Amino acid sequence: MARTSKDGVRRARQARLAWWHRARFGLFVHWGCYSVLGRGEQVLLRDFMPLAEYRPLAERFHPAADWAERIADQAVRAGARYVVLTTRHHDGYCLFRTATDRFNAMETGPGRDLVGEYVSALRSRGLRVGFYYSLLNWRWRGFWNPRKYAADLPKMVDEVHRQVRELLTQYGRIDILWYDVAQVPGGMTPGAFGYRVRPVASSPADFYRAAKLNAMARKLQPQILINNRSGRPEDFGTPEQHIAPDAEGRAWEACMTINYAPNWGNIRHSLADKTAGQILYNMIQAVRLGGNFLFNIGPDAKGYVTARDRQALDRIGTWLQTHGEAVYGTSPTGIYPVPSQGPGYHYGMFTCKGHIAYFILFYYPGDYVIISKMGPAIRAATLITTGKRLKVEPMCNARWKISGLPQAPPGDLAPVIRIEFAAPPHILPFADDRWLDGDFGAAGVGAAAGR
Ligand code: GLC
Repeated sequence: MARTSKDGVRRARQARLAWWHRARFGLFVHWGCYSVLGRGEQVLLRDFMPLAEYRPLAERFHPAADWAERIADQAVRAGARYVVLTTRHHDGYCLFRTATDRFNAMETGPGRDLVGEYVSALRSRGLRVGFYYSLLNWRWRGFWNPRKYAADLPKMVDEVHRQVRELLTQYGRIDILWYDVAQVPGGMTPGAFGYRVRPVASSPADFYRAAKLNAMARKLQPQILINNRSGRPEDFGTPEQHIAPDAEGRAWEACMTINYAPNWGNIRHSLADKTAGQILYNMIQAVRLGGNFLFNIGPDAKGYVTARDRQALDRIGTWLQTHGEAVYGTSPTGIYPVPSQGPGYHYGMFTCKGHIAYFILFYYPGDYVIISKMGPAIRAATLITTGKRLKVEPMCNARWKISGLPQAPPGDLAPVIRIEFAAPPHILPFADDRWLDGDFGAAGVGAAAGR
């Protein structure tokens, strides 16, 4: 009985996650009144700004009327299938209508419900809607000094529950609830160091009453996906700034900035950015291992995507227009049993869909590539980038030669070869020294592994 209900929970989760697994690529948006300064999303704490200095930013925050439309257009052009916006970051500033705290977009500079604008812009373009929500609110004194301001503690938790309820009742269907930093008062918090850490005695999940909070979220939005940052595992893991699968069988999504860490919000002049090639490499690295990729932008104070973010995203979007079948709806199948380099890794990486393997080349050799250590037989190969049919020949050591590639790379980002196998591809078991004599087996006849 207990087992059945466990299976039921797992099946329900899989069903909820189905669209998200197919989507593979989302856009993360860090934006708030801190964007006025262009010094990252944590400037309050990092620059140790007294509240009297920080609060006026909200009055100077005047988003353009079409900010949300432009972000939604950018997401579509980039090929993202969902967007996750910071509805409140660690400064506690709410981009939404709330009865809990006057430090919000309706009652300060913008004078508008920015989350409402965001949701309708996304929906009108068929994008899925995600809400980032920081459980931390640094403006509570009790967060920093829980003993002196013990009376704040229940208020902080109550604020979280009321705000999450507002977010999940005011805007219709919401697809993703993306919590951040379940840090208990007195505990370590990003950006703070040198002070004595004395957490109140409870786990984050206990402190925020996360079980109850998430049960409420699921009651209000039965289809909603919830990440793992409320102190409970919920639907998916969130490796940050690196690509690393979660525990076996768990869904995961890697989030990453264009600049090197740590800024997610707008910064004026970034001098250390990843190239579009590096961003794509990270995306494919996540996708091939079964994860999603949530790429971050930090719009300016008006809410406009910056030129550098636009350039990078448009290049990714152009690539996805031609090569999207190598990303959306793919899964790692049997060729990456454990996170490892995988076959053909000196050329690039594979994603799979049924009998098809997509070979995404990050090193372009010209002429030909060799497919080794993979079976079963290859039926056909096409260079998706140009649409050209390639030549496929079996070779000794169970290899295949795919030739007819143009000499120069056929695009400015990774070319993709679509390889059709006779059955879903798998790794051939490694044999012994026979490959040194070219005697590992003939291509397509099951290899010599078990001779
Ligand atoms: C880190 C940062 C935070 C950012 C988050 C995104 O936790 O501290 O500012 O919002 O990453 O995942």
